[in-house]
Amino acid sequence: MAIISIPDENRTIADERAIADYLGALGIDYEKWQPAHDVAPGAPAEEILAAYSREIETLKRRGGYVTADVIDVNPLTPGLEAMLAKFNREHWHDEDEVRFIVEGRGLFHIHPPAGPVFAIEVEAGDLIRVPRGTHHWFDLCADRRIRAIRLFQDASGWTPHYTNSGVDRGFQPLCFGPQYVP
Ligand SMILES: [Fe+2]
Repeated sequence: MAIISIPDENRTIADERAIADYLGALGIDYEKWQPAHDVAPGAPAEEILAAYSREIETLKRRGGYVTADVIDVNPLTPGLEAMLAKFNREHWHDEDEVRFIVEGRGLFHIHPPAGPVFAIEVEAGDLIRVPRGTHHWFDLCADRRIRAIRLFQDASGWTPHYTNSGVDRGFQPLCFGPQYVP
């Protein structure tokens, strides 16, 4: 289950409907899906894309996305810190950032044009679409694990443009999960 935290308002939102409403008011789509296909840890991207092909086709039809790939990292992934350093500073893209989380978790910070910066922690089953031009940044959580399907309208548009605002430095990448069910 995703969770939103709004540090400036000392507030969190953990209800699925309330999360979708809060994000929807900012033009960000959020949905919870429950598809779970068995894909071994370390499986190649093609295997993950094949396992989730039905969901990917549904999303492509809906959103006009033409290509999909997989981001699959764990603490042992070579070059992980350099990869993360590209996205943990405030930036925007010329196309939507669409992620369907298959495993693990991650933390988006969103900086709306009006209103406070907030964080949304996403985990398996979460589908999020951050529209083009939205100022945001991304961190992994302490477990450094995420496997997500990325969808593109045009992969060439997905280069980060940095704002260099320094706003990101005022926020700790704090995650809530993983939570244990006794
Ligand atoms: Fe981004």
